[in-house]
Amino acid sequence: MRWWDIDPVLELEKELFPEDAWSRGMFWSELAHSRGPGATRRYVLAESEGRVVGYAGLAASGDLADVQTIAVARDHQGTGLGSRLLTDLLRAATTFECAEVMLECRVDNVSAQRLYERFGFEPIGFRRGYYQPGNVDALVMRLTMKSGGGSAEGSTPEQGTEING
Ligand SMILES: CC(C)(COP(=O)(O)OP(=O)(O)OC[C@H]1O[C@@H](n2cnc3c(N)ncnc32)[C@H](O)[C@@H]1OP(=O)(O)O)[C@@H](O)C(=O)NCCC(=O)NCCS
Repeated sequence: MRWWDIDPVLELEKELFPEDAWSRGMFWSELAHSRGPGATRRYVLAESEGRVVGYAGLAASGDLADVQTIAVARDHQGTGLGSRLLTDLLRAATTFECAEVMLECRVDNVSAQRLYERFGFEPIGFRRGYYQPGNVDALVMRLTMKSGGGSAEGSTPEQGTEING
């Protein structure tokens, strides 16, 4: 993902996270750490027929990584794209030499939790009122990395959708 992708990403962001969408500044700040020597972020974009249909980001700090965001346009959900984006992030976690990957997920977001569980993430606790202003709790999940990173069991790549950093 590059800075010129922020506008279409923000459109998807507002549609998919209506209560707690990231601002333009948050994406700028994340992308500022995603290039060059010393980069600590991996931000990846999925495009289909010239349209942004998904994105995801990971932050590394020491041997710990965090899935910062992952999103797929509604008309592309359930096609394996979320799995492909997560696979890319976990590869990046391996490149960053992270031993663990953490994430927070709304407690009511069952489809995202299923995706994470398929990749081996396990629930380890809650953060009360993490999502504001709705005051929704977060489920905290953790993946202990094995050599080679994670992979999506049984995921068939969707034809025509390109994923790029
Ligand atoms: C969570 C999210 C990223 C998942 O993305 P996705 O592209 O739908 O994920 P996948 O397609 O890889 O997997 C979803 C389901 O489709 C199934 N699937 C994958 N490839 C498939 C294929 N080729 N044919 C049919 N089904 C398929 C998966 O088995 C999975 O099934 P399950 O949910 O019953 O276990 C997406 O729903 C999303 O963007 N949601 C809104 C934003 C959000 O909540 N983000 C997460 C914040 S924590």
